[in-house]
Amino acid sequence: KKQINIAIVGLGTVGKAVLRLIMAQQSNILNRSGIDITIKHLCVRTSPQNMDASIQPLLRDSYEEVLKDPNLDCIVELVGGIDTAFHIIKTAIEQGKHVVTANKALLALRGEELFSLARKNNVCIGFEASCAGGIPIVRSLIDGLLANSIRGIFAILNGTCNYILTQMATQRSSYKHALLRAQKDGVAESDPSLDTSGMDAAHKIAILSSLAFGLKVDFSSIFIKGLENIELVDIQNGEKLGYVLKLVSAAYEVDTGITLWVRPVFLTQTHALSWVHDTFNAISVYGDINGHTLYYGRGAGGNPTASAVVSDIISIAIGTLSAFFQHTRNWQDLNTRIDQIHV
Ligand code: HSE
Repeated sequence: KKQINIAIVGLGTVGKAVLRLIMAQQSNILNRSGIDITIKHLCVRTSPQNMDASIQPLLRDSYEEVLKDPNLDCIVELVGGIDTAFHIIKTAIEQGKHVVTANKALLALRGEELFSLARKNNVCIGFEASCAGGIPIVRSLIDGLLANSIRGIFAILNGTCNYILTQMATQRSSYKHALLRAQKDGVAESDPSLDTSGMDAAHKIAILSSLAFGLKVDFSSIFIKGLENIELVDIQNGEKLGYVLKLVSAAYEVDTGITLWVRPVFLTQTHALSWVHDTFNAISVYGDINGHTLYYGRGAGGNPTASAVVSDIISIAIGTLSAFFQHTRNWQDLNTRIDQIHV
């Protein structure tokens, strides 16, 4: 049995799901992996409602204090956003603590900086939860597909957009109604603009392509087009011709380098990505040796994301994730290719 002491910073939808998962599965996790996850601190701005009384003694309001705990092994950053999250992760790394995060925006914009700092300090950043929720796509790229040169990634990476498009296609809803429905069903945020603009999917494809191609992605070089101008008639016309409209994220090799984009695409009804409905995500990866592999599952929501977060905590405790993390090439190593990105 090996113990890992963690602090969870941020108790929103994902934070609560992580907490519940660990509380409910602690003994199963111990049986399966030999790892005893011990929550030492829960950092929150305001006390959560309707939570188990047993968590009261764990509640803290200052992450600075928490980070000073010498017995803490790992910080789980779930506050989101850029500046505070960057500060939390950087401080944790400098104090020799591992980090697990679901923060795709931060990693897409400043990941390389944090990753090289982590490697220098001999700690690991687990970020499986940052891309496609419960689908273990980060692991596949840094581990299972290592024998391959990755030639391309085609993916559905935003659950909210996929839900909206599914609603429009199956219920004949307008874009506006489908978005309202997504908000009512608790799929979309009250401000869903990061999702509908394609920005969230772009964050995820930036991270995945960094892993696949070893690139430090200049985020502004990604061509991003969201769903805002899509009308029901577009979907209906596509259908008549045998196509399904999806928000596709892509990163693939072209003669001059790598091209990266997010945009609505008409897929033939026989294309595997066209069968992905509701909030599900899917990623098709093409490796030179392996050919196509396809990953499918729930890409959003508390439980799938918590599944990825907790798997990272376990793998860090076992040591496997840290080993792969240390050996993954630095993104700036292939920096020269970034200039060749074109759309
Ligand atoms: N808003 C995201 C989505 C959640 O809809 O896919 C997971 O990153």
